[in-house]
Amino acid sequence: MRSSCVLLTALVALAAYYVYIPLPSSVSDPWKLMLVDSVFRGAQQVSNIIHYLGLSHHLLALNFIIHSAVKKSAWSSPLVKVTDTEFDGVEVRVFEGPAKPEEPLKRSMIFMHGGGWAVASASMSFPWFESSEVSYYDELCTEMAEELNAVVISVDYRLVPKVYFPAQVQDVERATKYFLQPEVLQKYSADPNRVGISGDSAGGNLAAAVAQQFNQDANFKNKLKVQALIYPVLQALDFNTPSYQQNVNTPILPRYIMVKYWIDYFKGNYDFIQEMIANNHTSLDVHEVAALRARLNWTSLLSESIKKNYKPVLPTTGNARIIKEIPQLLDARSSPLIAEQEVLQHLPKTYILTCEHDVLRDDGIMYAKRLESAGVEVTLDHFEDAFHGCMIFTRWPTHFSVGIRTRNSFFKWLKENL
Ligand SMILES: *[C@@H]1O[C@H](CO)[C@@H](O)[C@H](O)[C@H]1NC(C)=O
Ligand SMILES: *[C@@H]1O[C@H](CO)[C@@H](O)[C@H](O)[C@H]1NC(C)=O
Repeated sequence: MRSSCVLLTALVALAAYYVYIPLPSSVSDPWKLMLVDSVFRGAQQVSNIIHYLGLSHHLLALNFIIHSAVKKSAWSSPLVKVTDTEFDGVEVRVFEGPAKPEEPLKRSMIFMHGGGWAVASASMSFPWFESSEVSYYDELCTEMAEELNAVVISVDYRLVPKVYFPAQVQDVERATKYFLQPEVLQKYSADPNRVGISGDSAGGNLAAAVAQQFNQDANFKNKLKVQALIYPVLQALDFNTPSYQQNVNTPILPRYIMVKYWIDYFKGNYDFIQEMIANNHTSLDVHEVAALRARLNWTSLLSESIKKNYKPVLPTTGNARIIKEIPQLLDARSSPLIAEQEVLQHLPKTYILTCEHDVLRDDGIMYAKRLESAGVEVTLDHFEDAFHGCMIFTRWPTHFSVGIRTRNSFFKWLKENL
């Protein structure tokens, strides 16, 4: 009896130690966030063990665990028709919302889910796991289709480690081009003048990259009415922006995990992670980066209230091998923030949502600033109590008030601008 008591106390203490992470009190529902984070961390650790044992790639394992552990009840609305199909060989899940009586042609939104280019999906189906047809994004896409009377195309671009950059960008481009054909738009009763592109996290990265590609293509210029980027990933050259420094260990997306997602996206070498965290890939002696430095210089792109006491990390010497081995790091299709001004100035009206407790906050703020300087109309919607990924946490038991508030704010902007 006594020893089981001791054991129980020890287990509870261990669990508490595992779950507890210091969080700023200004974050929404901190205890719930700790629990969600510990489940996610646990899944990552199990995946790493599976990878280490040589049983499966850690990202495949992570995807499997996430989809099996948190079975979501099927989410549907009688007003929204959901179809799985292919657009030029790319799998998509189409959500057709109700038309407004006075508007027979609907708005439409091409949406890319987040998950580090490697996890989650629009319509994931594991052959050995039947109930996984339901995606985390069904709810967001269904509500978007219903509330905006829109057609939402959720693109199931292929994931790492099946494919690597730039295949994800190309998948999204193909699906988008297919949808923009007059006969396809007509089939879905979609208004050709009200097509938007959007995504969260790595999906926001793909949306931003494809919007830039389209504006350089004479056939597609001006076809997108808006871009809406939800806590997007926008650059891989500075992992010491004030938000990266402030949120090194903040849940859902600690800095180390974000850098690892980047390396995986490029099929790069994990040995570079620590050096990249120290900005050794973009040190002053790496000539390839010199021309891009001004576009990333957050001392000029961020306001004083954001910079606070943070200092730029700009090593004089680093490791030139990193950029040589992973030249994709300097590609604007992976880091839309480093695109030239001429590319930015033709972008459509833009919405960027940022979270205070997120390593990616400053990626979004810097992009908003660069777009504004290029003459693009930008709404920067910042949430002081938000954390990365919050918008998909809107349902019991993982419902966060900030999840609902960010989603409503995003929908409100779309209602007024798309
Ligand atoms: C960044 O901008 C600041 C202020 O405009 C300037 O003093 C600094 O030299 C720039 N840093 C780099 C690395 O270009
Ligand atoms: C960054 O590069 C410098 C110079 O090559 C090296 O001394 C330092 O150890 C590197 N930092 C990390 C974290 O590897």
